[in-house]
Amino acid sequence: MSSDVDLQVCITEADINKTIDRMADEINRDYRDKNPLVIGVLIGSFIFLADLVRRLTFPLDIDFTRLSSYSSGTTTSGEVKMLLEPSIEIQGRDILIVEDIADTGYSISYLMRYLKERNPNSLRLCVLADKPSNRKVHIDIDYKGFTVPGDFLVGYGLDYQSKYRNLPDLCVLGENGE
Ligand code: IMP
Ligand code: MG
Repeated sequence: MSSDVDLQVCITEADINKTIDRMADEINRDYRDKNPLVIGVLIGSFIFLADLVRRLTFPLDIDFTRLSSYSSGTTTSGEVKMLLEPSIEIQGRDILIVEDIADTGYSISYLMRYLKERNPNSLRLCVLADKPSNRKVHIDIDYKGFTVPGDFLVGYGLDYQSKYRNLPDLCVLGENGE
């Protein structure tokens, strides 16, 4: 069967692992005595979060939220909705958001605003891939894995129309010209 998509490995599983080791070292240093609440943004961060938290050596809680940004194909409209609220109390906690990719920044700034309104003790952001070329709103990233070009990426949790999340590498999704 012929496929109309073309996948090229952009960041290998080995490089992802090395980078997560480095990020975990930074987070282990900063959160040792804080008992933070780690909040993963579904669905894209599920593999990254699973790999990251297994390298963290201090007590922590884990919760999830799910956001949807209205989009068509590979572009985002900027309108964000929370589909799943975190269920653990935010107030007074040291919160670490774990997100797959920062693109326009709309999702993360929406989530930061939501969490700040609930008075955490601190709020930081950990992102596997930063795509600054598409940024529309400013965000501060405290722990960053990779800076990536503007291409649409799939794999390692990232999807295109719900597919490709299971690929072990981060890949660029292109279209075969017809
Ligand atoms: P935002 O544009 O920064 O709000 O990003 C919204 C969400 O779009 C991210 O959390 C990802 O789930 C998704 N997204 C952004 N860029 C990509 C990409 O290159 N591949 C797959 N998903 C992406
Ligand atoms: Mg996401």
